[in-house]
Amino acid sequence: MTTMTMLRNVSLLLLFFISLPSSIYALDINVTDFGAKGDGKTDASPAFLKAWKIACSSLTPTTIYVPRKRYFLSQTIFQGPCMNSGITFRIEAILTAPDYKNMGSIETWVMFDKVEGVTVVGGFLDGRGSSLWACKATDKPCPAGASTLAIYSSKNITIQNVTSINAKLYHVVIHSSENVIVQGVRIHAPEDSPNTDGIHVQNSMNVSILNTGIKTGDDCVSIGPGTKNLWIQRVACGPGHGISIGSLAKGPVEEGVENVVVKNVVFTGTQNGLRIKAWGRPSTGYVKGVVFKQVVMNNVQYPIVIDQNYCPRNEGCPGQHSGIQISDVSYSAIKGTSATKVAMKFDCSAKTPCKGISVQDIKLTYKGDSAESFCQNVRGVTGGSVFPPSCL
Ligand SMILES: *[C@@H]1O[C@H](CO)[C@@H](O)[C@H](O)[C@H]1NC(C)=O
Ligand SMILES: *[C@@H]1O[C@H](CO)[C@@H](O)[C@H](O)[C@H]1NC(C)=O
Ligand SMILES: *[C@@H]1O[C@H](CO)[C@@H](O)[C@H](O)[C@H]1NC(C)=O
Ligand SMILES: *[C@@H]1O[C@H](CO)[C@@H](O)[C@H](O)[C@H]1NC(C)=O
Repeated sequence: MTTMTMLRNVSLLLLFFISLPSSIYALDINVTDFGAKGDGKTDASPAFLKAWKIACSSLTPTTIYVPRKRYFLSQTIFQGPCMNSGITFRIEAILTAPDYKNMGSIETWVMFDKVEGVTVVGGFLDGRGSSLWACKATDKPCPAGASTLAIYSSKNITIQNVTSINAKLYHVVIHSSENVIVQGVRIHAPEDSPNTDGIHVQNSMNVSILNTGIKTGDDCVSIGPGTKNLWIQRVACGPGHGISIGSLAKGPVEEGVENVVVKNVVFTGTQNGLRIKAWGRPSTGYVKGVVFKQVVMNNVQYPIVIDQNYCPRNEGCPGQHSGIQISDVSYSAIKGTSATKVAMKFDCSAKTPCKGISVQDIKLTYKGDSAESFCQNVRGVTGGSVFPPSCL
């Protein structure tokens, strides 16, 4: 290229930038400018998506404001890929979901798909699940329901100070994503609401869940196949079904779960505390490298449990053994109260026994008295003082 053509190209480029509409520069945009009506009735989804389109095609960091009002949102998918890897949603609003009868078989209410560098700060998401739960309590056919907020196939995502109540299904789903931080989030649904998991992580790497409070009807955090490098710290769980790796071995070919840390967690009145659960049938999946430490159990039914013989109603697995290999799982500094006699249960597979399980400094009591432990097909080590006495 000659110097002349280079100069011409540079000036053309400059001209291009100067002539772009101002919306392409670092921006603060406001959903009300796109016609979002905060009356709680008019669908604000088209306005949110117009704002998203501008942010997504902007070349510089952009903040989308959602002011303090009540917006009704139909299903909304914020789709990438984007030019922009610095989009912030600053939400002061209450966002309300449609009734399940108007959602058909839609699986997610609000979704981010194939985006990079998105932060969602604040907001109160009302999934309005109660009519669906009522349907599920009858014999009538009803849909599975839509999860409230899902991050799919995305990278560098932060979800901060968001409140999610009464999801129809899961509150937050992180799937096929990388580098996701969930921080200062509050999740709340009734104890008897069906399948309202707090946060579900699957097929994702580098996910942190920090300073979060979860009260719900199913697992506080459920960890599915293909989860690697998951960090859970300062989480309060309960009511709910605890923190669960699994159910695994849903299918014969499955990815493993690897490198999970759960630290400074308090369970209150939950069904389980720290659970690893696999169907009693063959699978290529595994669980490797899990650290559970500094955990308080308040009246938890099953504080520590590995169950590799999960087979509800004895359907689809009778007489089979779990193929999931569980190894290198450590439990330390775990104390509090169990609501049942067996506070520590390792019920592993005859075909692939659990190995490298370690327990250290455990103090779990049952009704002010000593609790019990249970071991089957498990190998491991015991350190420090462990009550109930270890059966490893
Ligand atoms: C967004 O627009 C609304 C309505 O005009 C206004 O009340 C609010 O202050 C705006 N918010 C920001 C952060 O600009
Ligand atoms: C993610 O964030 C890190 C650190 O801020 C940055 O180095 C990296 O390029 C980002 N990746 C993507 C895909 O945006
Ligand atoms: C999130 O909430 C905490 C506690 O209320 C507050 O200190 C923090 O500044 C908030 N973060 C953002 C990014 O708004
Ligand atoms: C995962 O997170 C760690 C710590 O935040 C970071 O150093 C590492 O690069 C991340 N890995 C990937 C694949 O992004």
